[in-house]
Amino acid sequence: MIEDSRRAVIIPPSNAVFSENYPVSAIELRGVGKQWGGVVALSPSNMVIPEASFTVLLGPSGCGKTTTLRLIAGLDSATSGQLLVGGRDVTAAPPAARGVAMVFQNYALFPHLSVADNVVFGLQVRRTPKVEQTDRLARVLALLGMEHLRDRKPSQLSGGQQQRVALARALVAEARICLMDEPLSNLDAQLRQEMRQELRALQQKLGLTVVYVTHDQAEAMSMADQVVLLNHGRIVQSGSPREIYARPASAFAARFIGTPPMNLMALDGDTIAGSNVRVDTSPLATHVGLRPEHITLSGQVDAIVEGSEYLGADTLLRCSVGREILLARVTGQAEYAVGETVQLSWPEDSVHYFDRDGKRL
Ligand SMILES: Nc1ncnc2c1ncn2[C@@H]1O[C@H](COP(=O)(O)OP(=O)(O)OP(=O)(O)O)[C@@H](O)[C@H]1O
Ligand SMILES: [Mg+2]
Repeated sequence: MIEDSRRAVIIPPSNAVFSENYPVSAIELRGVGKQWGGVVALSPSNMVIPEASFTVLLGPSGCGKTTTLRLIAGLDSATSGQLLVGGRDVTAAPPAARGVAMVFQNYALFPHLSVADNVVFGLQVRRTPKVEQTDRLARVLALLGMEHLRDRKPSQLSGGQQQRVALARALVAEARICLMDEPLSNLDAQLRQEMRQELRALQQKLGLTVVYVTHDQAEAMSMADQVVLLNHGRIVQSGSPREIYARPASAFAARFIGTPPMNLMALDGDTIAGSNVRVDTSPLATHVGLRPEHITLSGQVDAIVEGSEYLGADTLLRCSVGREILLARVTGQAEYAVGETVQLSWPEDSVHYFDRDGKRL
């Protein structure tokens, strides 16, 4: 097994303890919850994270993302429930026995150590043989294309390079599971975009099981196999980006996924509030949802232009219909004056219906 771990990039020696019938890095939360005194950080939750998948924990600040990640890592202990890794109950296991590596938001690099020493620090702590340390270091630096930076100190690196060092430190552990807490949040927009693609490619190449935390829905949409959307310490919805975008389970999910967010308009009976625009709906619906990209500027619905925002490829037109405001995303450079009346339409099947509790109908 030790022999194997030297050759293969990502097979940790601890795999020997896993049952052969289980994918070794699948993660399962069964009723896992966390309270701090009276504060519920995570309500008892169920979650299945398949082997070699990219799962994103998404949600607004304070919703329990970091809490969930730390519970999986074993840095905090759950108040309730059971946590399985590769089918093995690790609820009470210490972090080192879980076969996970973690990348923290602030990188947590040692300023006085070189890139190389930062990367192998964990291996030194675990008394990994020197030859193997050198070997793994070389492989990881090559993988991330940063051999030329090995002797620099963190202060001599750009933000993106520091980010890569943090990633290298996680990968050098050769764990199959990599937990990442907002790893790109300190980078500028362009570098973020590049690193997203790089991370995703690396995950697929190495077959890593990645659990990735972000509050940025665009990041979640572009990287995830599975998105787990959290709010107030509860799982609101989980599914592929496509599923959540197409069938948001609640008004919250509808507004959180997609930029600009879905328009939510209140109803007076079966008309959009304050207008005579009829929608075909059940008596339970209190709101309808309509994505800005599904609205076209030709049709029968009278709307008044309230403003516009030029985005280059498209223009966002802010319109009022009755008492409600909606955003329409129109291609090209729409030239409309404030106060002008425009006619809108949307396909019938692009309308989402929500009840008074915000639940999808
Ligand atoms: N050590 C702690 N003691 C008490 N409450 C805590 C502790 N850690 C987290 N919490 C609370 O648990 C809730 C969830 O926190 P968590 O850090 O998981 O949020 P998050 O989703 O990661 O948010 P952010 O996007 O801001 O990082 C918050 O209300 C937070 O105040
Ligand atoms: Mg957090």
